[in-house]
Amino acid sequence: MLATKPTTNLLSNLLNHLAAYPETWDELREKPDKVEAAVEETLRFDAPVHWVNRKATADTEFHGQKVKEGDIVYAILGSANRDSEHYKNADEFRLDRGRVDHHTFGRGIHACIGAPLARMEARFALEGLFRRYKTICHPEHAENERTHSSMLRGFHHLWLEVEPAKGRI
Ligand code: HEM
Repeated sequence: MLATKPTTNLLSNLLNHLAAYPETWDELREKPDKVEAAVEETLRFDAPVHWVNRKATADTEFHGQKVKEGDIVYAILGSANRDSEHYKNADEFRLDRGRVDHHTFGRGIHACIGAPLARMEARFALEGLFRRYKTICHPEHAENERTHSSMLRGFHHLWLEVEPAKGRI
């Protein structure tokens, strides 16, 4: 697993959301204790790693689907994170979701060892941006470009317009 790229994607997905919903940027800036929830909800809502795969070591059946030994099986983490039977208003970004059971860091023995670092980096980066900038939005006519990958979801280019906070340049 590439370690730095998903963390960059996490931050760009979060900033993309905050630029689209400046009221959430304002809310987080005023109430930094909600930053952790924003990072967690971004991991669920716009997963920086969208899938993992496995090779079946034996014939099996999963939810009525036959899997043969040697088959490659894809687990679409981003889709599981939007399961409307599990998450209320799954397609909404909610700071008050109050649960951390998304699949973005994988599960089982190969679950992401870097998860605490990624969470901390995103939190620190966002807190730094709050100190430096008062507002954030998408500039008009910006040509943003998503990553060219089905697995990693983030931005290759993300243009943001910011207004410096008082006393900052
Ligand atoms: C938002 C950021 C990150 C996301 C979404 C992410 C996601 C994942 C996922 C889904 C897996 C499981 C892969 C699988 O089951 O096949 C994984 C594994 C792994 N991740 Fe991350 N990762 C992130 C950041 C990091 C960072 C910062 C590091 C290290 C500094 C890291 C190191 C690893 C390692 C070493 C594994 C393999 C664990 C194993 O196979 O036992 N990751 N990551």
